[in-house]
Amino acid sequence: MRITVIGTGYLGATHAACMAELGYEVLGLDIDPEKIATLSQGRTPMYEPGLDPLLEKHVTSGRLRFTTDWAEAGAFGDVHFVCTNTPQRKGEFACDMSYVESAFDLLAPHLRENAVVVGKSTVPVGSAARLAERLAANAPADIADSVELAWNPEFLREGYAVQDTLHPDRLVVGVRAGGRGEAVLRQVYAPMIAEGVPFLVTDYPTAELVKTAANSFLATKISFINAMAEVCEASGADVVQLSAALAYDERIGGKFLGAGLGFGGGCLPKDIRAFMARAGELGADQALTFLREVDSINMRRRSRMVELAREQCGGGFLGRRIAVLGAAFKPNSDDVRDSPALNVAAQIQLQGGQVNVYDPKAMDNARKLFPGLSFAPTALEAAAGAHVVLHLTEWQEFRDLDPAVLGEIVAERRVLDGRNALDPQRWRTAGWTYRALGRPG
Ligand code: UGA
Repeated sequence: MRITVIGTGYLGATHAACMAELGYEVLGLDIDPEKIATLSQGRTPMYEPGLDPLLEKHVTSGRLRFTTDWAEAGAFGDVHFVCTNTPQRKGEFACDMSYVESAFDLLAPHLRENAVVVGKSTVPVGSAARLAERLAANAPADIADSVELAWNPEFLREGYAVQDTLHPDRLVVGVRAGGRGEAVLRQVYAPMIAEGVPFLVTDYPTAELVKTAANSFLATKISFINAMAEVCEASGADVVQLSAALAYDERIGGKFLGAGLGFGGGCLPKDIRAFMARAGELGADQALTFLREVDSINMRRRSRMVELAREQCGGGFLGRRIAVLGAAFKPNSDDVRDSPALNVAAQIQLQGGQVNVYDPKAMDNARKLFPGLSFAPTALEAAAGAHVVLHLTEWQEFRDLDPAVLGEIVAERRVLDGRNALDPQRWRTAGWTYRALGRPG
């Protein structure tokens, strides 16, 4: 079986490399020739632990190739995974389906008989049924009846993309009743199914919804604990202890119960918004009004961090130097899309603060997105002369910083932990004023 992967971002590049790792011959396609040139050398344009070695291994072996040519992709693949992105539309909640639609339209005329197209992108419920019709309309007339569509959402986390793709919690496959989708995907994923990964077969809309519901649940869990952090701040309680105590209840569980600056990235924020927009179209908007609250609790954490920083700067940012540790939306990633850290940094700069940002991996991306911000090549250089240090993305490198060493170079020993990831005792012992979101001062 030969596989193509259309769209080689985080999802597609990882999927292509992992399919090669499973033993398939794989052709990755992207419309961006620069990205294809980098991938063809066995390198990724992004930072994703474990991905470059896997790519290099399979590009070198010849099992994995890349192209920008749709005809080549159509001729090559028995199964075509579509992994194009679905960003939020500018000024709207709804997601932009144009990349997915255009991938389907460009691929369809080149499909061979019995080709199976598998959607992996996160799409509004109802998209697969519509795309199936589009596929049938644009495929060569003599083989259109034989082309099959399946929907197979992806649950990988950035930073763990390879591990999550090769060892997923579950495989969800939305298929057309009576079609070949299930059988073909059982064959593709046979090595994983043999290892005991649950293989769940549903219809199209259920498969689409599993993905959006999962991300909405995760976002809700984070905003729940951040709402508790607000109450902790008002009442003098400690959200870290609260979260740890809640986690002992197995029905609640401790994962995604980390209070702090909240969620960002290219997925959770735009997925809950697109979900609300879609529910509105379906006349089910009431069912999801709580997601509006989830969104606003999340955004309020960023403003609260700015407020806390202003307090620590004596009521205003003018003439104050603020060190920002972290730019990525989370550690082990260079992704800065909707990054809470950069959002806070930009707000403080706008209010007159002299902000200096450092991140172990996301500097290039951060510079592109916020060219007006100042960046420092190391954490120590960012902190030099600072009146307050903001810890906004919880990289291990920041946990390893020695507060005594840092204390020698700052103007004032004040640290705000936006991720509740530093050890307060350690910092306080070294003479720092340590403050965190949702914890007593
Ligand atoms: C998320 C989901 O976790 C994946 O399952 C999903 O496949 C992916 O979106 C997607 O739709 O493609 P990802 O965006 O990589 O993955 O990041 P997460 O690990 O979910 O973190 C999201 C945000 O939540 C980060 O900003 C993180 O700092 C924040 N977070 C996470 C918290 O604030 N508290 C927590 O306890 C956990």
